[in-house]
Amino acid sequence: MEKKLNNPCTAMFAIPKKTKVITTDINIAKEKLIKNGVIAIPTETVYGLAGNALNEEAVKKIFDLKERPLHNPLIVHIKSTDELSKVALDIPPLAKKLATHFWPGSLTLVLKKHSKIPNIVTSGHDTVAVRVPNHPLTLALLNQLDFPLAAPSANPFGCVSPTTSKHVQDYFNNDIEVILDGGSCEKGIESTIIGFENDQPVLYRFGALSIEELEKVVGPIRLNTLENKNPKAPGMLSKHYAPKTPIYLTNNVQELIKSFKGKRIGLLVFRTKIIKPEIVHQEVLAANGNLHEAAAKLYQSIHFLDRLELDVIIAEKFPNESLGITINDRLERASKSK
Ligand code: TXA
Ligand code: MG
Repeated sequence: MEKKLNNPCTAMFAIPKKTKVITTDINIAKEKLIKNGVIAIPTETVYGLAGNALNEEAVKKIFDLKERPLHNPLIVHIKSTDELSKVALDIPPLAKKLATHFWPGSLTLVLKKHSKIPNIVTSGHDTVAVRVPNHPLTLALLNQLDFPLAAPSANPFGCVSPTTSKHVQDYFNNDIEVILDGGSCEKGIESTIIGFENDQPVLYRFGALSIEELEKVVGPIRLNTLENKNPKAPGMLSKHYAPKTPIYLTNNVQELIKSFKGKRIGLLVFRTKIIKPEIVHQEVLAANGNLHEAAAKLYQSIHFLDRLELDVIIAEKFPNESLGITINDRLERASKSK
């Protein structure tokens, strides 16, 4: 019990209180936001913890709630591409091209910051991360507001991102008064983050849009591979997206099962179920082999397995292509012990 109480990713098992309002009414959300409150919002990727990006007090509340280090900057969510010049400056032509092509959508651009954006949002960097989310409720909400929303994923720092309002509620209980309920997130995995060096695109985080899709529009994208030594986006920190149950990632699930004799084992596999009596539960991410479907189900399945009091989750490595790369990236980070 003690262990669970100390683990921010499992606070939900300990505290019975409930979020005061889970609603689809954007007016309730708006009221809270204009008073500099923090609410949870749905996006097509994952749920976010949102506050007025132009108000330091609101942004500080987000960091406090998430227990996120102040040196890890937030993404600013705007209502349309037309608003980009209000939050960013000197926008490279290829950034404009990407924005025009993919927004609203699961692409975050890191650009030179406008002075209107408080330093706390960008952790003192001279760049700002920005995107137009593709969720009807949140777009309707943004259209009612005269400020953008700063919103990191709505999980305590280091834990698996939430893809339903229930996940958010389980994490934060009554610490968040309003959750705007937009159902299950369609993409189910965070946005892809692209920065610019000498006006050329550089990948900072694998995400819901594959590199192939992006490269079709702007040509080759360099990978920021120094990720663990000098992460450009701290979402690239080696240990991240971790559930409380240890996760092992392998190319050979059958073989690894043998090393956990007598243990309660859960499996996370791509297409094919593995029939073994020692498996307590297994999640098949996409029996049809569709990597987009698998990505959409990944976090939901980890949240589910993490509630089963398993000793171990064994995850199968995905094909290293398209969204398989993003899935492997998250599973690798979730499986790191430090
Ligand atoms: O899909 C998403 O991107 C979700 C939804 C809510 O929009 N948001 C999300 O936020 O994943 P968060 O805070 O969990 O991850 C944002 C990532 C972090 O890794 C952060 O370091 C990086 O964006 N980031 C933010 N501003 C940055 C900047 N100026 N330069 C480089 N990386 C930045
Ligand atoms: Mg996050």
